Amino acid sequence: MNTEIQKRRAGEAAAQHVEVGMVVGLGTGSTAAWFVKALAARGLHDLRCVPTSEKTADLARDLGLTLSTLEDTPRIDLTVDGADEVGPGLALIKGGGAALLREKLVWEASARCIVIADHAKVVPVLGAFPLPIEVVAFGHKTTGNRIADVLADHDIAAPARVRQADRGLVRTDGGNLIYDAACKAIHDPARLADDLKLITGVVEHGLFLDLADLAIIGTDDGVETIN
Ligand code: 5RP
Repeated sequence: MNTEIQKRRAGEAAAQHVEVGMVVGLGTGSTAAWFVKALAARGLHDLRCVPTSEKTADLARDLGLTLSTLEDTPRIDLTVDGADEVGPGLALIKGGGAALLREKLVWEASARCIVIADHAKVVPVLGAFPLPIEVVAFGHKTTGNRIADVLADHDIAAPARVRQADRGLVRTDGGNLIYDAACKAIHDPARLADDLKLITGVVEHGLFLDLADLAIIGTDDGVETIN
């Protein structure tokens, strides 16, 4: 299995869904980068692209795509983005690349959303990938404790850990922190999503529910779609 080829196939297939004149949301991550490259290679006229991270903005700009913002183009025709897990009903975990807040803002402003992923990301139950939760830096340990309480209510014993990199705490493009919750299995994603949003200090979480219209999954033989 070649994961990178699978990601590339999914990104290239998704680029075929873009039409001249569209406003396109550009996701973040290695799979979304394949989509951005394939989209740029198509050379379609009159596209305006709304990136979900500074990293994606840099890539798209380098490739000559015309960038816009959610302020200037609040209605997006199509967003294409990767995911960390694709579960039943196209419920997703996102945020491995710490871009979940901008991603969710762009997804929710989109008429249509396509998730692209390699085959290993398709799971029967969400939660093996630690759930990213974006929190404000002020009082983040208190917020982390309240996240742990909510997880315990959901029979999830593992603590949420603040994300660290070599140079210290990871900061999102918005200057916030990420807690990763090693849930193992999320049996009621909708209830957990609601409960996390009620915690003061939580900005957003990586559960993307009822947002994806189509999944394009790269395989060793080509692509498969789920809708
Ligand atoms: C970034 C994301 C990414 O889409 C997700 O982490 C998948 O990344 P990759 O395509 O590199 O596996 O949600 O916040």
